Amino acid sequence: MKGELRYEGKAKRVYATQNPAEYVVEYKDDATAFNAQKRGTIQGKGAVNNAITAALFPQLEAAGVPTHFIERLSEREQRVKAVEIVPVEVVVRNVAAGSFSKRLGLTEGAPLSLPVVELYYKSDVLGDPMINEDAAVALGWASREDLSVIRDLALKVNAFLAPFFQARGIRLVDFKLEFGKTLDGQIVLADEISPDTCRFWDAASGEKLDKDRFRRDLGGVEDAYQEMLRRVLADAPTGDVKEPA
Ligand code: TMP
Repeated sequence: MKGELRYEGKAKRVYATQNPAEYVVEYKDDATAFNAQKRGTIQGKGAVNNAITAALFPQLEAAGVPTHFIERLSEREQRVKAVEIVPVEVVVRNVAAGSFSKRLGLTEGAPLSLPVVELYYKSDVLGDPMINEDAAVALGWASREDLSVIRDLALKVNAFLAPFFQARGIRLVDFKLEFGKTLDGQIVLADEISPDTCRFWDAASGEKLDKDRFRRDLGGVEDAYQEMLRRVLADAPTGDVKEPA
């Protein structure tokens, strides 16, 4: 099924298949942070991120967000539509944290009065610098029309995911998305949605259940990833407020 290796990133490998319209994505346990200055392994991460993405993408599709996802093939592999990745990383923030807090001098955890969408140029050598829409258009990374579709989809993803995680006792602080263009020119959600690419805080305790445990040497990284998989797969949401009988 897997053909030639098309692309190898820090967390995944992408293979061609016999069908030019499809790729196979393989998730690795490798973890990096700070533009790969910090490197390590998170045991079981590939399987967890594959399973979480495979659970979320069909639900996003049903909520009106086209995605590249076709099916999960194995513990580490999924079949996806072949896309060319738009080299613009889209971050959506509900709560001040990370680089946003640092840049603007805000306490981590301060809620934002509306979701904030930011754009970054996907470039390891440059360290994913922040850009704006004009720069992306001027430099030919995406058209104005594509960026408008991407922004609307990113907000739609947030509108689905924030209550989804809230119902599972998780505060969705922020996350990063990547989009791609299919062979027939449709913009679709690509890459992954996982503890590598989101900040997930336990709603009750505030405990971090994402890659910040690795970035900030907090320990318990593997357990946090496993806990997030359990929460995503839980079909009986824990955060629902039930009226007493
Ligand atoms: P930031 O606060 O460091 O800018 O990160 C914002 C969100 O984007 C956070 O959920 C982590 C995610 N992210 C990635 O997925 N990849 C990256 O390279 C970076 C820097 C952040």
